[in-house]
Amino acid sequence: MADPAFADIVAEMRRFAARAEDLNALQEFCVELVTTRIPYYNWVGFYMLDPGDESILVLGPFRGAPTEHVRIPVNEGICGAAVAQGETVIVDDVAADPRYLACSIETKSEIVVPIRANGRIVGEIDIDSHAFNAFRAHDRRFLEECAEILGEYLEK
Ligand code: SME
Repeated sequence: MADPAFADIVAEMRRFAARAEDLNALQEFCVELVTTRIPYYNWVGFYMLDPGDESILVLGPFRGAPTEHVRIPVNEGICGAAVAQGETVIVDDVAADPRYLACSIETKSEIVVPIRANGRIVGEIDIDSHAFNAFRAHDRRFLEECAEILGEYLEK
């Protein structure tokens, strides 16, 4: 995946964010855009911290196979690890990571990127790929930029 494709997506997200009606609309736009444009992003979704119980991540808009993991405690899964560590987590082979909570048997690798607003983690973007080692430095940079757009939107 060439970086210009990432740059186009970021530009489209910024344009949409400037006039998005609410967070849900922006998240729906993002998951649709990203799964349509990037073939190896096979599951793309948001988990947001429950405002009533910040020890739980709650599934938001997503594209891909339905998952039983609609509420994930922050001390579980790759998703929980990204919140606990406060940074992006990349897993090249999910079967080799004891933290991994299985969603689809087709998933081979995963990246989870925290979203921050006003300096605090409020949620994350979670992406699964059917390919091993799918997520490289340019995916990380791209998804961290997407997370920043979401965070800035929430700060407004
Ligand atoms: N694999 C994640 C759970 C979410 S599903 O992939 C959609 C994890 O280990 O936290």
